[in-house]
Amino acid sequence: MLLAIPDLLDADELARVRSLVETAGWADGRATAGTQSAQVKRNLQLPELDVAAREAQGIVLAALDRSALFFSAALPRRIYPPLFNRYEGGMHFGSHVDNAIRTHAASGQRIRTDLSATLFLAEPESYDGGELVIDDTYGSHAVKLPAGHLVLYPATSLHRVEPVTRGSRLACFFWLESLVRDDGERTLLFDLDAGVGRLRQAHGDGEIAVALTGIYHNLLRRWAVA
Ligand code: NI
Repeated sequence: MLLAIPDLLDADELARVRSLVETAGWADGRATAGTQSAQVKRNLQLPELDVAAREAQGIVLAALDRSALFFSAALPRRIYPPLFNRYEGGMHFGSHVDNAIRTHAASGQRIRTDLSATLFLAEPESYDGGELVIDDTYGSHAVKLPAGHLVLYPATSLHRVEPVTRGSRLACFFWLESLVRDDGERTLLFDLDAGVGRLRQAHGDGEIAVALTGIYHNLLRRWAVA
């Protein structure tokens, strides 16, 4: 599933995150790349233990925590602490698949990357290029969202970031392990949850809405690894 989550950050949070990370100590992005992706990765990244990055991480995690749409789509079990990257002056990240398992250096925690996410922090008109291009069976999808919006996509997909030829593309990115490992099962649950939501909005909490909510939870119980 490829999903945009609009306005994950509000204007104040976006301004705070931007001011925190803009002046922080940027380093070569190859620090967190696997051996294959290191060959095609050309960008800057904030070190994981950077003080400003950690405050910005907290703001992003709190925003994820209150987003019902994010919860319904991702069913997060563990979230890798968000990282920040920057592309400018032709920087790009060639086609790759994200590593299946990530170990967080500071905590030693290991997560399986079921979903990848990018939170855009720069307005799209402030830079040229920098589209996140995600391949699936229906072709290539170029994603370039307004600042504060997030895109969620399967970590199994081939993806790349096009060269940034003007301005600076600032973003936050992370991976997560889902309670429901299989993308098809997770998508079905998301569709059912959205359908029940529309039914309740139109007709209230009638008998049918209660029955379908029960089915949602029983499918989740069957498929989730908590
Ligand atoms: Ni990637």
